[in-house]
Amino acid sequence: MRLSLIPVLLCTALCPSGSTAQQDAAQAPHLTGISAIANNVWQTVINGGSKPVDLAARAKSDAETGMTRITDDNYDTIFSQSRPDDLWVVAVHGREGDVMSHAYLETQSNASSLLKNNATLADKVERIKFGRLDWMTDWVLSTRWVMTKPPYIVFVTDSGKTLRFAAPPRLPANGTMLYEILAESYWRNLPPWDGSLSPDGDLSYLVEAYISANQYLAQYTALAPKWIWFALPVLTTAIGQQIMAWLHSGGDSAQRQRDAEKEKPKSQ
Ligand SMILES: *[C@@H]1O[C@H](CO)[C@@H](O)[C@H](O)[C@H]1NC(C)=O
Ligand SMILES: *[C@@H]1O[C@H](CO)[C@@H](O)[C@H](O)[C@H]1NC(C)=O
Ligand SMILES: *[C@@H]1O[C@H](CO)[C@@H](O)[C@H](O)[C@H]1NC(C)=O
Repeated sequence: MRLSLIPVLLCTALCPSGSTAQQDAAQAPHLTGISAIANNVWQTVINGGSKPVDLAARAKSDAETGMTRITDDNYDTIFSQSRPDDLWVVAVHGREGDVMSHAYLETQSNASSLLKNNATLADKVERIKFGRLDWMTDWVLSTRWVMTKPPYIVFVTDSGKTLRFAAPPRLPANGTMLYEILAESYWRNLPPWDGSLSPDGDLSYLVEAYISANQYLAQYTALAPKWIWFALPVLTTAIGQQIMAWLHSGGDSAQRQRDAEKEKPKSQ
């Protein structure tokens, strides 16, 4: 009974019933998701981000559970220097108080210790690495992977080139289940991400342009005094109103001209 349930459970979590949440987000970008990214980038770039409360405590808990902290600065080096058959299991989490993020982190560390405790899996476990990424602070990688709502578990292979995403509710926060997914390689059932916003997709340039634009902005905003972010909306609103007024007057005269044009045939 129990044995027959597992594949069913894993299938609801992983089997491709069309696409992953990630691909849904990429192919039919729902506005709330995209604006969540934009909002996060705005928070991080403009306001200096919501820094984790205690970096030292976080580094300590990462180390104790054998997790590698993935950041915007180190991810390229870490993934590109991995063997193609290395599997990185990256938990992407939101702010510290987020219940679901917390559950995913626990899921990940439970799965990791279950794997390490099974000697028969030693060869396999040697190729499985665990990483953690903070969606709130590391916005470049979070944007490049088009992640709209943490948490996620991302399965990274091929030295960072192949990505598979799992998210709630399809992947429940259950350490035993993630352990089985890794031990039995069920994660391969997930379709690799190949949507149009993915790194090889036809719209990937949009994502890159967005990142560059924000990085460019960040260089200047770092130097700008804080009050400018209060003054700027007032200023842009005022300028916007001028432009709107101008456009409207233009629109009116264009409309009048069209009306005049319409009158002509009648008067002839
Ligand atoms: C270790 O993993 C193997 C292969 O998945 C499994 O058959 C075995 O039951 C596991 N052993 C323990 C103690 O969980
Ligand atoms: C992790 O393991 C602990 C101890 O076995 C258990 O109480 C907890 O429910 C597990 N959590 C998850 C998310 O698997
Ligand atoms: C977690 O998953 C395992 C195996 O897939 C299952 O036996 C167990 O009941 C699940 N735990 C919870 C709390 O759902």
